[in-house]
Amino acid sequence: MKLAMVGTGYVGLVSGTCFAEFGIDVVCVDKDLSKIETLNKGGIPIFEPGLEDLVAKQVKAGRLSFTTNLTDAVKGADAVFIAVGTPPRPEDGHADLSYVYQAAKEVAALAEGYTVIVTKSTVPVGTAREVEKIVAQHKKPNVTIDVCSNPEFLREGAAINDFMRPDRVVIGTESEKAAQVMREIYRPLYINETPMVVTSPESSEIIKYAANAFLATKITFINEIANLCETTGGNVQHVAKAIGLDGRIGSKFLHAGPGYGGSCFPKDTLALTQTGQMKDTPQTIVESVVAANANRQYDMAQRVIKACGGSVTGKKIGILGVAFKPNTDDVRDAPALVIIPELQKAGAIIVAHDPEAREEASHHLSDVEWQDDPYNVAKNADALAIITEWNEYRALDMARIAGSMHEKRLVDMRNIYKPEEMEKLNFHYVSIGRAEIVPDGVEALRKVS
Ligand SMILES: NC(=O)c1ccc[n+]([C@@H]2O[C@H](COP(=O)([O-])OP(=O)(O)OC[C@H]3O[C@@H](n4cnc5c(N)ncnc54)[C@H](O)[C@@H]3O)[C@@H](O)[C@H]2O)c1
Repeated sequence: MKLAMVGTGYVGLVSGTCFAEFGIDVVCVDKDLSKIETLNKGGIPIFEPGLEDLVAKQVKAGRLSFTTNLTDAVKGADAVFIAVGTPPRPEDGHADLSYVYQAAKEVAALAEGYTVIVTKSTVPVGTAREVEKIVAQHKKPNVTIDVCSNPEFLREGAAINDFMRPDRVVIGTESEKAAQVMREIYRPLYINETPMVVTSPESSEIIKYAANAFLATKITFINEIANLCETTGGNVQHVAKAIGLDGRIGSKFLHAGPGYGGSCFPKDTLALTQTGQMKDTPQTIVESVVAANANRQYDMAQRVIKACGGSVTGKKIGILGVAFKPNTDDVRDAPALVIIPELQKAGAIIVAHDPEAREEASHHLSDVEWQDDPYNVAKNADALAIITEWNEYRALDMARIAGSMHEKRLVDMRNIYKPEEMEKLNFHYVSIGRAEIVPDGVEALRKVS
């Protein structure tokens, strides 16, 4: 069995490497020459725990290679996966499918025998049908190509484990022959009794958006409940725990915070609302989620400003964490990319730290003083804001931090510290959906009524 993976980003590189681990010969292709050069020199263009070792192992075993040459990659491939980006179109937020269509066109023209073209990218419902039309126009006359949708559910930071032990594999095709090829590719998971949902391309495409939109809704829901806790004296962590113990609800994705970000939820929720509008079936719940989440990120900046007495002009604000979540260097649509510029607009001087995402973030943020050590971020700061819950921020010496700050203000957007401990250290401590610790003479952000 031989596969080609078109697009060697987070999804393509992880999926291609894991397929090689399944024992399949995989050629990963990318248009980005620098990425392929890095990979061919033994480097990894992204930060993903465990990936470097797995790539090295598979390259050494001769099952994994990297090229910019699509012709070589497609030659003899039983299936060609398309894992290129589907970013939001700037004009309307709909998924930009030009990369997927371009890849499908090029692959179809090169295929020489029966081939399954698999869309692994997250694509709106109807895309597989469009790909079928493109393939029919560009393939060689005597070649049969089936199209299949196979959305990916891996999470950055836990990508290898997610790929190797998924909750389910979704295969959307009407061709029994293509379904058979896909079952063969995923055979190691099939043997492990991973559920396989074989369905139509339409259902498969909707499954991916419905799953992401549901999770984004769960996050947004608990964030609004956190707001209610703040104005009434509740504790969102207790609320989340208790509702999460209900098996119908489940405990995951009930952590209140600064709003969801990343390369998937923001663009996928937006794309789903666009599809709903285009098909005259508005997705009103998801529309509200998109709006509420956007407001939340601005609200986080406001919390920092209010904690500083209503103005951050000329004040030094320390930021811990800019990646959209821990264990990744990905900053796409990260809350920090809204919060930091809002604080700067209000006149703040920003000093920041992130264990992995500093370089990526520096392409999107200007006038940030970067530090290699979180303690240097706190030094002489008027407030410290924790935006990403990296493990290394969970056990900081808070007494040392308190002692080095100009004003002891901590805005903990991930609830990683205990209010009672912050009270002992005399912090003005603002967390999410829990009691605010307000030192004497300081005005509370929200009045509990
Ligand atoms: N990142 C995630 O956590 C995640 C999870 C599940 C699904 N997805 C989806 O998977 C898709 C890919 O996401 P990603 O994060 O891996 O994107 P990415 O931007 O990291 O990688 C995409 C790669 O495709 C390459 N590319 C574009 N056109 C090409 C072409 N014609 N030929 C060869 N290479 C080409 C780009 O150079 C880039 O390296 C998206 O649709 C995304 O929504 C992402």
